[in-house]
Amino acid sequence: MGILEERADLAGKVAIVIGGAGGLGRAVSLDLARAGVDVALCDIDVDAITETEALLIGIGVRHIARQVDVMDLAALGAFFVDFDQTFDRLDILVNVVGGSTWLDFGDTSRETWDRDLRKNLVYVIHSTFEGVSRIRAAGRGGSIVNFTTIEASRARPGAAVYAAAKAGVENFGRSLAVELAPENIRVNTVAPDNTPTPHMATITPPARFRPTGSRTDLRPRAARMQIPMGRTGTTEDVSNCVLFLASDLARYVTGTTVRPDGGTWASGGWINWPGIGFSPSPPNPILERLFPDPDAPG
Ligand SMILES: NC(=O)c1ccc[n+]([C@@H]2O[C@H](COP(=O)([O-])OP(=O)(O)OC[C@H]3O[C@@H](n4cnc5c(N)ncnc54)[C@H](O)[C@@H]3O)[C@@H](O)[C@H]2O)c1
Repeated sequence: MGILEERADLAGKVAIVIGGAGGLGRAVSLDLARAGVDVALCDIDVDAITETEALLIGIGVRHIARQVDVMDLAALGAFFVDFDQTFDRLDILVNVVGGSTWLDFGDTSRETWDRDLRKNLVYVIHSTFEGVSRIRAAGRGGSIVNFTTIEASRARPGAAVYAAAKAGVENFGRSLAVELAPENIRVNTVAPDNTPTPHMATITPPARFRPTGSRTDLRPRAARMQIPMGRTGTTEDVSNCVLFLASDLARYVTGTTVRPDGGTWASGGWINWPGIGFSPSPPNPILERLFPDPDAPG
């Protein structure tokens, strides 16, 4: 065993991954399994569950994979009871499910607010409650990793309720981390930025909220300027962070946020203009084209 495996001490542990079959969740489930962790996952997408389950069988860890809509809290609770039928300990809980309605605030409604809050915040509280009781019962400490987003700590025009819910997840975790620290139960969040997943390709934001609009082919080009490292994230970039937080490599890390975002959060609006370099404001030729008459109002 190499120094990383030895210090990580993941092999033989048991994880629950909520939303563990598709997108970033699949990468997390598979990477935990490759590290020797038994995986219980739930997801809403039956096809994704079938595909991920086949991959878990190939890796050879113990697993269960169930269809659950996490917005149905009774079904989510039943999944944890189901988990107890197969596993007698829980070490790691990862809450991945999330997603936003992308609309002008004036076009949102009680239904969209309710959906965004339930899909991003409410289920995380329920899932964490169930997870903590099981980690506590096993008495060996553990790790909880919740997914937020870069927008938990910066604005997201067109998705204010999503941003609020994710900010809630971050501070829920921070507070709980302190409360649970004496029991060696760690709580952290992962805040990705732009990481293409099949789901993301289906999202078409209102044009005024994204310069590339529905031109998904232009998004990698935009990333070259928007993201200091010049590229979008990969699912592995994100699951690497979850592996770290889940493992004993992070045994003294709690109440914090890890940001697989290529430096975007740190850049705080500084753009890497080609041939010019980093600047928070547009280069002169663009300003002159956008505002040809310097004395025009507005
Ligand atoms: N991909 C990104 O660029 C990005 C950026 C920032 C934050 N995030 C956050 O990362 C997390 C994962 O994002 P993703 O791009 O993989 O999204 P995704 O839509 O692919 O969701 C991940 C998994 O959750 C499942 N899921 C969705 N709704 C569910 C429900 N109601 N019940 C059970 N399972 C459900 C999906 O089927 C999928 O397998 C989310 O919390 C998202 O907000 C993603």
